[in-house]
Order: sequence, then C-alpha cells, then structure tokens
Amino acid sequence: MSDSELILFSISSITAFLLIFIFIKTKQYSNFNLPPGNMGWPFLGETLGYLKPYSATTLGKFMQEHIERYGKIYKSNLFGEPTIVSADPGLNRFILQNEGKFFECSYPRSIGGILGKWSMLVLVGDMHRDMRVISLNFLSHARLRTHLFSEVEKHTLLVLNSWKENSTFSAQDEAKKFTFNLMAKHIMSMDPGKHETEQLKKEYVTFMKGVISPPLNLPGTAYRRALKSRSSILKFIECKMEERMRKMIEGNENFGEEDLLNWVLKHSNLTTEQILDLILSLLFAGHETSSVAIALAIYFLPGCPLAIQELQDEHIEIARAKKKSGEIELTWDDYKRMEFTQCVINETLRLGNVVRFLHRKAIKDVHFQGYDIPCGWKVLPVIAAGHLDPLRFDQPQHFDPWRWQTNGSRGPSSNCASVTTNDNNFMPFGGGPRLCSGSELAKLEMAIFIHHLILNFHWEIADADQAFAHPYVEFPKGLPIRVQRHSLL
Ligand code: HEM
Ligand SMILES: *[C@@H]1O[C@H](CO)[C@@H](O)[C@H](O)[C@H]1NC(C)=O
Ligand SMILES: *[C@@H]1O[C@H](CO)[C@@H](O)[C@H](O)[C@H]1NC(C)=O
Ligand SMILES: *[C@@H]1O[C@H](CO)[C@@H](O)[C@H](O)[C@H]1NC(C)=O
Ligand SMILES: *[C@@H]1O[C@H](CO)[C@@H](O)[C@H](O)[C@H]1NC(C)=O
Repeated sequence: MSDSELILFSISSITAFLLIFIFIKTKQYSNFNLPPGNMGWPFLGETLGYLKPYSATTLGKFMQEHIERYGKIYKSNLFGEPTIVSADPGLNRFILQNEGKFFECSYPRSIGGILGKWSMLVLVGDMHRDMRVISLNFLSHARLRTHLFSEVEKHTLLVLNSWKENSTFSAQDEAKKFTFNLMAKHIMSMDPGKHETEQLKKEYVTFMKGVISPPLNLPGTAYRRALKSRSSILKFIECKMEERMRKMIEGNENFGEEDLLNWVLKHSNLTTEQILDLILSLLFAGHETSSVAIALAIYFLPGCPLAIQELQDEHIEIARAKKKSGEIELTWDDYKRMEFTQCVINETLRLGNVVRFLHRKAIKDVHFQGYDIPCGWKVLPVIAAGHLDPLRFDQPQHFDPWRWQTNGSRGPSSNCASVTTNDNNFMPFGGGPRLCSGSELAKLEMAIFIHHLILNFHWEIADADQAFAHPYVEFPKGLPIRVQRHSLL
C-alpha cells in the first residue's frame, strides 16, 4: 500500500471503530433514563468547550448554555469519559454525602500522576480515612488556637510590612507568598527568606504549572517539567525527613518542632512514600486555594467602598480596644469579633468560587429525580452553580457581604430578603466525608490578612485585571495593585 492508501485505510478503520464504539455505548444504556445532553466527539467529547476559560464570577458560556438547553443535570463526555454534570445543589449534596456508598472521588489520572498516588485528593476508602484523620488532627480547632493563630498573624505582617508606599505589585503573588510561607512553616518548620525555602518555592511554581496543564508527558511540556519538579520536591522533603529521624534516634527531643513532618513521623505508621505524598498534597491544597481567596477579596473590595468602610469600623474598634489594654498580638477573642469580616469572606468565596467543581464517579447505578446515573460514569458536582443561582442568591453577580448578615438590619441591601444561609446551597469547601480539612484555617488566614490590610493600607487596582476560571481561578496579570499606607488608629 502507498502512504496515502495507508492513511485512508487507517482513517476509515478508525471511523468504523468509533461508530461501533458509539453504537455499543448507546445500546448499553438503552435501559437507563439518562439525563439529556450531548456526548460530543468520541474520546474528546466536549472537554475543550468545558475547559475554555471564562470570568470567575460566572458559570461560563458552556455551562450556561448547557443548563439552558438541558437543565441543571445533563450528560456529556468529559476528560475522556461519559459524564453526568450536576449544577443542581440537591444532587450535589447527595453526591457529596454519599461518598463511598454511591459515589467515589475520582480525579483524572494526570492529577494522580503529579500529586502522587497517596495524595489525599485521590485516595479513597480506608486509606483516605487514615490520612484524613492526620490532616484533621493537624488542622484541628485546638491547634489553630494554640499553634497556628500567631503564625498566621506573623506571616501576614511579614508580607504587608514589605509593601512600599506608592508601589505597584502583584497582589496575587503577595498572597501566594503569605500562604506558602505559612504552610512551609507549619508543615516542615521552614523559615521564609531562607535559601532552602526560596528554592522549594521555585520548584513548587514549576510543579504548579504542570498540575494545571494538559497531561502530556513529552519533552518540553509543562507537565514533563512538573514531574521533574515533583521529584526534586520529594527529594527535598525526604532529606528533611532523614534529618529528623537522625535527630530522633540521637534522642534529641528538643529539636522537636511541632510541625506536620514530626507529627507523622512520631504518630503514624505511614511509609516514606506515603508521607511524601501527604506532605506534598497538603502543601498544594493549603496554599493554592487560600491565596486565590485572598486575592479575590483584594479584587472585590475596591468595587464596594461601603464594605471597606464597614470593615474599617470593625477593625478599628478591635484595634483600639487592644491598644487600650496594652495588648499587641491579636487573640482568638478578637477574631471572634470580626463578624462583618466573616460576611466578606463568605461573599468572596461565594462569588469567586475558588473550587468550581469536583471529580466523582458513580460506584453503583444511582437513581435521582427520575434520572439514572450508570455505575462507572464520571459525575461532576458543580458546586459553583448553587452560589451563582439567582433563585438562591438575589442578584448573584453582585458583591454584597450584607446578604450574610443574619439580622439584616444594616447595609445597602437590608430591604432584600437575606439569604437563608442554612439551606446548604453554599459549599465552597465541598461537603460530606471529604469536606475540606483546612476550611477553618483558610477563613482565619483571610480574616487576619484583611485585618492588617484594612488598618494599614489603601489600595487600588493599578491595571484592570479580572479573575478567570481555567477552571482553577487566576488573575492573568497577577492583579496589580498600588498601595498607600495609612494609619486609622
Ligand atoms: C479558600 C480556601 C480553600 C478552599 C476553597 C478549599 C476547597 C476545598 C474543597 C472544595 C475540597 C474538597 C475536594 C473534594 O471533595 O474532592 C477541599 C479538600 C481539602 N482541602 Fe481545602 N480548600 C481551601 C483551603 C485549604 C487549606 C488552607 C488547607 C490546609 C492545608 C486545605 C486542605 C484540604 C485538604 C487536606 C483536603 C482533602 C480533604 C479530604 O479529602 O478528606 N484546604 N478543599
Ligand atoms: C505617593 O503618591 C502621591 C500621589 O500619587 C503623592 O502625593 C505622595 O507624595 C506620594 N508619596 C510618596 C511617599 O512618594
Ligand atoms: C497503621 O496501623 C494500623 C493499626 O494500628 C493499621 O490499621 C493501618 O492499616 C496501618 N497503616 C499503614 C499505612 O500501614
Ligand atoms: C458563612 O458560611 C458558613 C457556611 O459555610 C456558615 O456556617 C456561616 O454562618 C456563614 N457566615 C456568616 C457570617 O453568614
Ligand atoms: C444587627 O447586627 C449588627 C451588627 O452586625 C448589630 O450591631 C445590631 O445590634 C444587630 N441588631 C439586632 C436587632 O440584633
């Protein structure tokens, strides 16, 4: 055969194969009442449309059009698998609550390749439970109060104090610096500014680019570079581990920093490989998300001067009371007094949607509201959908922290029906047995950062930027801001 014949032959056999494949696939589910939808191209499905970047404060064109055409529950073919997409908060809650029973966490293989097979985000079953216990222990309320609280404030001040009057810089980078330093300290007792910390940060940036890029393990791709960074980072953590174990054997109990690395070495029987993936995934989960959330708050607030005013009132009151009593560092009681700040935090998470959807699969045939979800199909609960639904949040595109005030007596929208915050449509941290273990820490980081930011700086967006969902949320220009110092006390 000539080359062109060969190509023609290949194309026609591939086509025939695909047609048979599609026929079998359709036939196989003829007994099921699948939700409406479009399976798109074979293999590729509708993945490209689904992943097309869009404004982070919306659901994006793809999702909106599909919901309009098919309703809030539709079928598609995404990430190479037949998929049910759910923009229905009721079904989303059902999916998350029934983890391990009807559904199971199921991230694309590429994520497992880069975060590691022992990463908490990809583990299921008993192994997930064991790792989760460790993470919950480490991020417990008690530890937050005793260990993390003052660290959060220290690292906030370290970043804010480096801001120069009238200078312009990337707020996104500064937020990343803050959350990275905090996690590096908390996990491995690494200090900011030190050579090894900066080195790790650099590797980590390369690593991150791979997590969010197409999983092509070819020379020159971001994914390949990220796999290399992954092994450098693991080597680094392993060195730290060996150092600790040496000290432990020497009986030097005093080195004993109360960090995660020490804790797992002392209190768990995890293997080295498991510890490495656990630490890497906590560094990842605890740093990317909360830095985006802080950047989003910095982005939303200048568009809402009344909220800045109310934040100032709240934080001045707290700071004045401290000054009077001679206290310097913030306390847990101060934190509890940041009520309006909590509204700002919720509103930022609602409108910004740091995590937009989760990856699950059905492990049984599931029947929900007349539809069937076949065993083995991917299921994507779009948690952002409830947050941006006009039936659940009045004027959902509007940044309105007062909607979270329970008594609704203040603020511009006090005459609107305030949200029913307990109807469980709000789930920025997921839910069920995989609810984010760092949610309390994330809110604490945001509140303390906002406290010192509001008290010490006036800021404006220096160059128009906008949050995009890729679907991970990012500011293309890094959110450049210009700051002026002020003292409100
Ligand atoms: C605003 C910031 C954050 C957001 C929006 C967020 C969101 C989420 C979501 C939606 C999940 C569930 C994933 C799933 O079900 O598949 C999750 C899991 C997780 N998050 Fe967060 N997170 C944030 C901050 C943090 C922080 C600061 C930490 C601290 C280390 C953290 C640690 C984790 C861990 C360990 C898990 C896995 C829990 C499990 O599988 O049992 N997160 N996060
Ligand atoms: C900062 O800029 C403002 C005007 O843009 C100017 O009035 C002020 O003097 C500048 N401050 C410093 C310290 O450069
Ligand atoms: C650790 O030990 C417990 C029992 O003490 C066991 O159930 C668990 O499977 C072990 N975990 C690993 C990772 O070996
Ligand atoms: C913020 O949302 C959480 C649910 O994640 C809710 O429990 C809390 O009451 C909300 N905070 C405020 C101030 O409304
Ligand atoms: C409503 O909330 C504000 C602060 O959020 C508080 O100052 C006020 O006393 C509350 N009013 C009532 C009636 O609870």
